[in-house]
Amino acid sequence: MSAHELFILNNEIITDEMLSSDEITYSSLLLDFVRYNKRLPGTKIGCREGDCGACTVLVGDLVNDQLDYQQIVSCLTPIGNIIGKHVVTIEGINREQLTPIQREIINEGGTQCGACTPGFVVSLTGYALNNDVVGPEQIIGSMDGNICRCTGYKSLEKAAISILPMLDSINKTDTLRIQGLVENEFIPDYFLEIKDRLINLNRNLSRKTELHKSSNILIGGGTDLYVQRAEWLTRQSADFLELKESSSFINHENGKVVIGAGITSTQLMESKVLTDIFPNIYKHFKLFGSTLIRNIATLGGNIVNGSPIADMVIFFLALNPTINLQAQQEKRSLNLRDFFLDYKTLDLKEDEIVSSIDFSLPPDNGCFNFEKVSKRTYLDIASVNSAFYVDFDATNTITTAGLTAGGVAPVPKYLTIGSEYLIGKQINNQTLLNLLDIVDQEISPISDVRGSAEYKRLLLRQLIIAHFITLFENSVHIEELIA
Ligand SMILES: Cc1cc2nc3c(=O)[nH]c(=O)nc-3n(C[C@H](O)[C@H](O)[C@H](O)COP(=O)(O)OP(=O)(O)OC[C@H]3O[C@@H](n4cnc5c(N)ncnc54)[C@H](O)[C@@H]3O)c2cc1C
Ligand code: FES
Ligand code: FES
Repeated sequence: MSAHELFILNNEIITDEMLSSDEITYSSLLLDFVRYNKRLPGTKIGCREGDCGACTVLVGDLVNDQLDYQQIVSCLTPIGNIIGKHVVTIEGINREQLTPIQREIINEGGTQCGACTPGFVVSLTGYALNNDVVGPEQIIGSMDGNICRCTGYKSLEKAAISILPMLDSINKTDTLRIQGLVENEFIPDYFLEIKDRLINLNRNLSRKTELHKSSNILIGGGTDLYVQRAEWLTRQSADFLELKESSSFINHENGKVVIGAGITSTQLMESKVLTDIFPNIYKHFKLFGSTLIRNIATLGGNIVNGSPIADMVIFFLALNPTINLQAQQEKRSLNLRDFFLDYKTLDLKEDEIVSSIDFSLPPDNGCFNFEKVSKRTYLDIASVNSAFYVDFDATNTITTAGLTAGGVAPVPKYLTIGSEYLIGKQINNQTLLNLLDIVDQEISPISDVRGSAEYKRLLLRQLIIAHFITLFENSVHIEELIA
């Protein structure tokens, strides 16, 4: 039997024969394959939990016929999720001379012990390959998943900013951008051939289009699963959401929004459709993990992980969505708020997969806000998070309201009583004060590492006030609330 080509690692095709001769399965981690089987030690091992960015690699994929590169953590990414793609390690970026990114990092004193340096170079190269918006905030943001213990970051930030003028002059369209980056020595010239090589590779790969489970384990982005049980997982056979083409979509038609379970956090925050509905979605999702995590973490994984503080769940739950489930033979749908039965206990059968969520919107889309408090602003899970969706009639009376809160109950909480109380009310201080009292009765926080029960009650109160101030600045008077 002839070998099947599976993916490209730097400039080398990796086949199924190469994997099996090395006893690598689709569940094995990309980090281990790269370091131990391919002997590419530039990709470092730090935390193995997605927190440090030492293991950063780029993954290039064909999206709408364009070559799209994203930086990801290889320590949580299984081989099954990179089939048909181009994986780039620091060795695949290196040229005979230093690239401008490497040069600027040295010039600005952005490397000392060097343990983090390949990760930073890969993230910045990912930014150069992928970003239409060139600016200091964006380029610094592209390193938000990379940790450096030595430099204090300022030198790395300076290095990143000094690259901007070079990137500014490079054409932003797909093929010309890659050509420009090759000409300006950011990447080696084999990148020029990658798009055609990926087209050929994917022509020969038979992607599975069915959306049901054929094994007991389903892996989305792997960012929860591989943190929880990496060693065990790498020995199991699994299904990969990534290989099921039909799970990644966002549609908005006739007032109904449908989002596939395989959509990543990055795709959500960058979606034009969703930005029209939630103008601040980019800012809100910036509070989710880091770029390296957002590029792989899926909506389905966030829901099925069942965490009471899951950000994507708390965000969308305020729209009171339906969750759509699919097994081999049958489909069913239920209200997402009924899907969470108790702490990490879900109304999900063993053979079922989450295929999508959907929700309906009025023609004017209504108003929406999301708030999250965690010990650190970025790269941290919430102590308490909350979302608020509200719509009015012509007399400014509330017609629809959905209020959610995470970290105050065993499940992501749709605050049913509080939401129902708001229907028929006007927005003013009294409505807000009544709502705060009602919600306080409806929640049952416990004390844990993220804060005492009392602290979480106080936090939620503050977050609800923040919703009102953000959305209805002129209708609530903060001085009276504090008095
Ligand atoms: C460093 C780091 C930072 C993080 N920061 C945040 C944060 O700020 N906020 C936050 O909410 N979370 C955070 N997380 C948690 C995690 O990234 C999210 O919960 C993510 O959405 C999980 O998605 P995944 O695709 O990676 O799930 P996976 O790990 O692949 O899967 C999680 C569970 O869901 C199941 N599953 C996945 N997809 C489906 C499906 N379609 N149908 C049925 N079952 C499915 C899997 O079998 C598994 O049981 C963080 C994680 C890390 C490592
Ligand atoms: S080793 Fe730390 S993020 Fe992968
Ligand atoms: S240079 Fe030492 S960790 Fe960054």
